Amino acid sequence: MQVAGKIEEVRQEISELSKTTRTAQDLMQGMVKLLHERVLKYNWVGFYMLEPNANPPMLALGAFEGAMTPHTRIPLNQGICGAAASSGQTVVVDDVSKDPRYLACSLETKSEIVVPVFAYGKVVGELDIDSHFPAAFTNEHKEFVQYCAVLVGKKLETSGQ
Ligand code: SME
Repeated sequence: MQVAGKIEEVRQEISELSKTTRTAQDLMQGMVKLLHERVLKYNWVGFYMLEPNANPPMLALGAFEGAMTPHTRIPLNQGICGAAASSGQTVVVDDVSKDPRYLACSLETKSEIVVPVFAYGKVVGELDIDSHFPAAFTNEHKEFVQYCAVLVGKKLETSGQ
């Protein structure tokens, strides 16, 4: 199947999931599982959420699928994860070996995308995906992962958890 068709199919499943889950926590859990299982090039999929009231601000690993990572807490001035959360911008890295900010999770990872999750206009966390394939995150993937992050932000606003 063409990549576009496949992503459309998974987008439908994600959209269904967001309608049938009550809490943001359930949505994130189901979303990482679905993305990891259904999209061949998404080899590690996880959420990092900002710890409430942490000083300095800290990202803590939440729901994830894939190998355990040594990075369970990441300060905002470290990693691709810190860069995305502190800037509020999506970060796409086509070749992680060339990015000095990169914190290694698996030796097999070649490319990465991190998309901030916003609730009430503020960054509250992020969706991080690693791929064993270089430059896996084309514009189409970027738009799709941003869609997923928006659903989580909306669910946080409506369910509060
Ligand atoms: N690569 C990330 C760290 C998280 S692991 O990939 C799961 C980073 O550079 O911030």
